Amino acid sequence: MPSLFDPVQAGSLHLPNRIVMAPLTRNRAPGAIPTPLMAEYYAQRASAGLLITEATPVSHQGQGYADVPGLYGTEQLDGWKRVTDAVHARGGRIVTQLWHVGRVSHTSLQPGGAKPVAPSAITAKTKTYLIEDGKGRFADTSAPRALEAQELPGIVHDFRHAARHAVSTAGFDGIEVHGANGYLLDQFLKTGANQRTDDYGGSIENRARLLLEVVQAIAGEIGGGKVGVRLSPVTTANDIGDENPQALFDYVMRRMAGLDLAYVHVIEGATGGARELPDRPFDYAAMRTAYREAGGRGAWMVNNGYDKALAEQALAQGADLVAFGRLYIANPDLVERLREDAPLNVPDRATFYGGDARGYTDYPSLEMERSA
Ligand SMILES: Cc1cc2nc3c(=O)[nH]c(=O)nc-3n(C[C@H](O)[C@H](O)[C@H](O)COP(=O)(O)O)c2cc1C
Repeated sequence: MPSLFDPVQAGSLHLPNRIVMAPLTRNRAPGAIPTPLMAEYYAQRASAGLLITEATPVSHQGQGYADVPGLYGTEQLDGWKRVTDAVHARGGRIVTQLWHVGRVSHTSLQPGGAKPVAPSAITAKTKTYLIEDGKGRFADTSAPRALEAQELPGIVHDFRHAARHAVSTAGFDGIEVHGANGYLLDQFLKTGANQRTDDYGGSIENRARLLLEVVQAIAGEIGGGKVGVRLSPVTTANDIGDENPQALFDYVMRRMAGLDLAYVHVIEGATGGARELPDRPFDYAAMRTAYREAGGRGAWMVNNGYDKALAEQALAQGADLVAFGRLYIANPDLVERLREDAPLNVPDRATFYGGDARGYTDYPSLEMERSA
């Protein structure tokens, strides 16, 4: 049985261990431009088998929170290049999570103060995060408008364009498509947010169409071996839900199998919450079997509430990689700490979103603790 500290191949990514830093939005990029402090933060965590950046909008329309870094302007790409250079200088590997929030946004964050876009004009009962006069606050999302069918090729284009520049200009080792947590691609997938009557709504095949078009377009552009996909079959995040997630994700997995992806990243249960949901049962082993039976060879990455013991159990049961979120906020050297069974720093929730170096780059490594 492989250990967390054994190498693994994920598509064209050679990973020295199986410990992944999960994508974590930190709202520390004023003007949507990655900062030198962000380069330091990611570089501190470079011993991870793989770093996945915070979610990164592929267009201004795809933005739903204040001070998140983008991937569609020259200054943004230059800022990210500083990040990837810093990570590579420390011997790390980093992919960026490509994001379109869809209806989880606010008019004040949209180009020209427009309504956010969605599969259908249904407001998400959830909050977004705004920063006004230097102070952060959570606010209700704005009512969205339904995207016209003829706008959808433009969204696919934005994802493909961002993926190309992520790799060729910003120096990323690959990208992860954010298909999870109730954002645009998840909104299209699930009945709770998609009431369309065209080719992108109704049947499972139709609801999965946009996600598959996006992933296919990106794989065609940069090679499937550099592409991961994040999915959350039964998450409750951002007011999302589906009538029959097992059948939906069985179909999605069978279709993804042919794309030679680097990895499939699955959030089990409610993101950041319960791993088992009594009212939303789901068989993750069956989801993986659907992928493998259809010929899918990408690495299988699991996430949500993992500690070392649970992670080792997941590897024993066939997972290839485990992504850690909150533990990575507080433990830049999580790999070393898990290897040595050293105590873990506790993350400070008050500094998760927005702010400065406090609660961001000032969590000590073991080495710093020992030399103090
Ligand atoms: C502060 C914070 C920011 C997050 N940002 C993102 C994000 O940008 N993209 C994403 O897919 N998930 C995001 N998540 C979810 C995490 O990636 C992860 O799924 C969740 O924290 C559960 O994993 P954990 O139990 O190891 O923390 C975020 C979670 C937290 C706590």
